[in-house]
Amino acid sequence: MSHLLPLSRVVKLVGQSRHALQEMIRAGTLATFDGMVELDELLRAFPEVKWDDDAEFRRVSEIKDRAFAKRVFERVLPDKEVLAARLTELGDDYAAARALLLHYGNVMTWLDEKIDEIEEDKSAETRHALHTLRAFLLRNLAEMPPDAVLAQAVIAQERILKVMSAHVTIQPSGHEFFVEGNDTLLDAALRNGVSLNYGCSNGNCGECKARLLSGEVKKVRAHDYVLKDAEKDAGVVLMCSYAPVNDVVIEANVAGARDIPLQQLAAKVKSVEVFNPHMAALHILAPRSQRLRYLGGQSIDLSINGARGRYAIASCPCEDRHIEVQIPRRPGDAFAELVFDTLKANDTVEVEGPYGEVVLDEDSPRPVIFLAFGAGFAPIKSLIQHAMSLELAESMDLHWLADETGHYQDNLCRTWADALDNFNYVPHAPTDDVDALLKNIVADYPDLHRFDVYAAGSVTQLEQARAHFLHQGLPEVRWFGAATAG
Ligand code: FES
Repeated sequence: MSHLLPLSRVVKLVGQSRHALQEMIRAGTLATFDGMVELDELLRAFPEVKWDDDAEFRRVSEIKDRAFAKRVFERVLPDKEVLAARLTELGDDYAAARALLLHYGNVMTWLDEKIDEIEEDKSAETRHALHTLRAFLLRNLAEMPPDAVLAQAVIAQERILKVMSAHVTIQPSGHEFFVEGNDTLLDAALRNGVSLNYGCSNGNCGECKARLLSGEVKKVRAHDYVLKDAEKDAGVVLMCSYAPVNDVVIEANVAGARDIPLQQLAAKVKSVEVFNPHMAALHILAPRSQRLRYLGGQSIDLSINGARGRYAIASCPCEDRHIEVQIPRRPGDAFAELVFDTLKANDTVEVEGPYGEVVLDEDSPRPVIFLAFGAGFAPIKSLIQHAMSLELAESMDLHWLADETGHYQDNLCRTWADALDNFNYVPHAPTDDVDALLKNIVADYPDLHRFDVYAAGSVTQLEQARAHFLHQGLPEVRWFGAATAG
């Protein structure tokens, strides 16, 4: 039985994280061949998985049965042309498998007749051997062995996944993600935290051009931007207008903090979430036609009627139009006063940004320590969620050193720790002896040279922490400190 599955599909099939599987590969408990897993190896390594429990199929059926709003239904199912193309491909696979089976059937009939012929004029011994051979063949053809039944269930699940989603690899960065529902390549990349270059996101500017290296795509949204014939011949597509039919490899640039232009937009207030008298979160929505491009860990300027301030973004770039900004109430901050006292849903907030260059090093596979001083939790939260969406770090430890704002999202951090095997959360109560606390924290990492450290706090707090981490062996270039007001 030789049916190879890419690791990214195995992740979906067995419901485990990519890191968990990579750990198994490293430990030798899951064998791979060129990044692929053989079907019988998969069955051996995950005997506890219920292959006939088709969660994906059930999810679609439930949504259909409950007659969800049309928009939700469209989010789950691919564009109809893409769906038709995927079903055609599936039909071709099925036809090829049927043809092969017919061929095997003919070979069996021929073999059966041959045995008859030979039996007629051979010795009793030979006739007995042939009889035994025929009985063996008939018995094994009549009933499938248990592992063949399991293999059938896995292949059926994989086929459904292939109809519902396509896998994308971006070159040269190596980012990978799935395109689900009626998302375009660009929608899916952003949803997965991959910061591809783009401009208008509606087919007008040409900024999202990319080259298709393998696989097939279909245009699912009209675009006014005209691609030149030479570009079309070279496989250039607009990522905001095309969706993959099957697994594709695309050549496209992933933006760093310096590549993202300064943007201005008017956002609407969605809600204000007051955590305590010192700390609130402002949730705003960017216009449909102009999402804000930013990376985890960056900040934006917000203003209303002359009240203005720069605040850390606490949301993930993967959250579509939603932006969360966390705002400490500090004396003299007129914008913060507005947020705590008067701002309400649907008010308009002017946004300018993003600012800041402390963003994730997406090329680093190293374990990560996040260090948040008080309200410095905001950029750290954004970085953590971005790292989660990219499945970036081998492991993540969050140390949150509280001030008067407290651990105002303690429950969220505990939820992350419960949900993720590779996430540890250590809250630290306010203390007058920060030096002693930092000394204790770094003492837990005798192998600090292997880590990346992202920290956010005041300039003084960052200098103090940096000294401790570097003294304990952290390479200077692996320290990423983001200064917040304070
Ligand atoms: S982002 Fe402007 S054409 Fe795609």
